[in-house]
Amino acid sequence: MKSNIVLIGFMGTGKTAVGQVLAKRLDRQLIEVDAVIKKMAGKTIPEIFNNDGEIVFRELEIEAIKQAAIGEKQVIACGGGVVLNTINIDRLRVTGVVVNLTASLETILKRIATDGDNRPLINVNWPAERIKELQKFRKPFYDRATDLTINTSKLSIDNVAGKIIERLKNYEGFNL
Ligand code: S3P
Repeated sequence: MKSNIVLIGFMGTGKTAVGQVLAKRLDRQLIEVDAVIKKMAGKTIPEIFNNDGEIVFRELEIEAIKQAAIGEKQVIACGGGVVLNTINIDRLRVTGVVVNLTASLETILKRIATDGDNRPLINVNWPAERIKELQKFRKPFYDRATDLTINTSKLSIDNVAGKIIERLKNYEGFNL
C-alpha cells in the first residue's frame, strides 16, 4: 500500500501552501524538499544555484528525494524541477501517489510576484516568456510523473487540499 502524498507542479502552483494544509488536516509530517536541500547545503536555494550551479542543486535534490521516499504517511512537497530526473519519480512512486498541481500562466505570475527572488530559474526580466519555455520543455516530464492532476487557478488553498483528500479516499492501493 502507498501512503505518501507527493505534490509536484510548476513553481507558483501552491505545493508548499497546500502541503502545509494537507499535513495539518491529515495529521501527517510535511517534508518540504527545498527546505531539506537548504539544510543539507547550509545555504539558500539561490546561493546554491549561483555559487555551485543547477547540477549541484539537482544532485542534492536527488539525495533529498531518496530519503523522503523511504518514509511513510508523509506529505512531500517537491520543488518544481523534481520531475526532470526520472529517478526521483521512480522512487517517489514506490511509496506515494503523485499529485500534480497546475495553474494558468496568469495565476503563476501573480503568485511568484511576491517571492520571485527565491526562484533563480525565473528571476529574469521577462518571467512570462521564461515560464512558457520551461513549461513546454517540462510538459512530457510532468505527464509521465502524474497520477492525479488538480488545477488550482480558481481554488483556495483549503479547497485544493479538500479536493486532494476527496480523490485519495477512493484511490486504489492508497492508504489515507
Ligand atoms: C525549481 C523550483 C523551486 C526550487 C528551485 C528549482 C524548478 O521550487 O526547487 O528553484 O526547477 O522548477 P518551487 O517549485 O517550490 O518554487
